[in-house]
Amino acid sequence: MSVLFFKRFLQRPFQVASIIPSSKALVDRVADKVDFDRARVIAEYGPGEGVHSRELARRMRDDARLLLFELDPAFSRDLQRQFADDPRVHVINGDAARLPNELQQRGIGPCDYVISGIPFSILKLHKKTALLQKTYDALAHTGSFIIYQVTNELKQHALPLFAEAESEYFLQNIPPMFITVFQKSAAHNGNGATPVFSTNERA
Ligand SMILES: C[S@@+](CC[C@H](N)C(=O)[O-])C[C@H]1O[C@@H](n2cnc3c(N)ncnc32)[C@H](O)[C@@H]1O
Repeated sequence: MSVLFFKRFLQRPFQVASIIPSSKALVDRVADKVDFDRARVIAEYGPGEGVHSRELARRMRDDARLLLFELDPAFSRDLQRQFADDPRVHVINGDAARLPNELQQRGIGPCDYVISGIPFSILKLHKKTALLQKTYDALAHTGSFIIYQVTNELKQHALPLFAEAESEYFLQNIPPMFITVFQKSAAHNGNGATPVFSTNERA
């Protein structure tokens, strides 16, 4: 178990929302949903101690960029240290809602993927919808928003915006998680504009 993770959970239980990092199996499953050949810009919300970030950085192209948005200062310092020698990775100690501003300030184009581990379900409705809108706006036309969450309540808020969503209930994590991939546009899948929700989830 990550000692830093458990300490930060004790300091900020609602923000960190988990006592242990994601399992290796969950990390691999989430990374498998990314097409690393085409991913040039990836943003991660709530990397924590970096268990997903390290796998993303390991698989991504040499010319890709990874923007990590972490609210917690101790996690952010640790991420800075871990990625000090990797110029592709940018650690932002701040709210995920800063994504559009950071892209603009750094002159980086739209995201191919946004991957989120933040506890969306406990965000107030206005913050949740505002962050979903910013995420949608920051994605390229062919971009995807990938979340892993204990509940799948975000779909009802996200689907009016996103064209498609596909979920699975992943048991190899404590606790089990819904992994959902929201597509910004159905066009690249050859479908019409009708929102689709295909799923093997339970809720
Ligand atoms: C459940 S932990 C997930 C950590 C890691 N991604 C993992 O899978 O083990 C949630 C993380 O999101 C961060 N977080 C919560 N709200 C955030 C926000 N609005 N913006 C950026 N980070 C946030 C917390 O500080 C915490 O590190």
